[in-house]
Amino acid sequence: MYDLMIYPDAGQAESAAAGIIIEQVRKKPDSVLGLATGKTMINIYDILWKWENDDEISFAGVKTFNLDEYLGVAPENRDSFHSYMRRSFFMQLHGKPAEVHILNGSAPDPALECRVFERGIKESGGIDLQILGLGRNGHIGFNEPGSPFDSRTRVIDLSESTRLYYMKNLLELREVPKQALTMGIATILEAQSILLIVTGAAKADAFNKVINGPVDADIPGTALSGHQAVKVIADQAAAQKLHGHDAKLLKFPRAIRS
Ligand code: GLP
Repeated sequence: MYDLMIYPDAGQAESAAAGIIIEQVRKKPDSVLGLATGKTMINIYDILWKWENDDEISFAGVKTFNLDEYLGVAPENRDSFHSYMRRSFFMQLHGKPAEVHILNGSAPDPALECRVFERGIKESGGIDLQILGLGRNGHIGFNEPGSPFDSRTRVIDLSESTRLYYMKNLLELREVPKQALTMGIATILEAQSILLIVTGAAKADAFNKVINGPVDADIPGTALSGHQAVKVIADQAAAQKLHGHDAKLLKFPRAIRS
């Protein structure tokens, strides 16, 4: 059973999502956060670092683990998720997090890189709040359709539709890599709590399957139904195809409280 919150537009959904992250860090300043990239997250990070710059919140005690990274792409490359995170969040903060973990796409031994990453999560005490976006094909992290629900952090082949989608965002690479490193579905499900954020009409089909469809490895997001503490925030455009649910339309600011 999801805790489902639907807002009239993406801006309000993003504010509400930021509010949940802020609440988590205020409640537990040394929280371990699982972080996502993608378009959905840009405004959310904007809200978070602006609050930090205004001294409303500090991320100095948190440890972060990012969901995924392109394989073969060095952290310095402008298209890496390392660069995305620096640009969108870490560089903007006055107080840097205690620890930042992002899979290194250019690690000489990717399988070892994945094992070290998993060990890092365990040694940190486990993820308190895992933030997730949803791919148009229902992926979470880069767990593409068909990913086993017991998968751990690993190398994965990207689907053609994912590669096509990311093509238009490239800054430096000539094409989207064929593979990536991603936190596994089992790794994601071990988080204490999960926040899934879904905005935009292009995700309406996948979102409906995640909320109403049967659990199906071809829609990796459906794995979340097996977790006890999932909050789902969506805008009306993403939620337009939902049926048989009892979500109310909410108005920001329900979630941000100072
Ligand atoms: C991507 C990323 C995820 C992200 C999701 C949504 O492929 N691997 O980390 O959360 O899919 O992306 P976007 O917000 O750009 O739609």
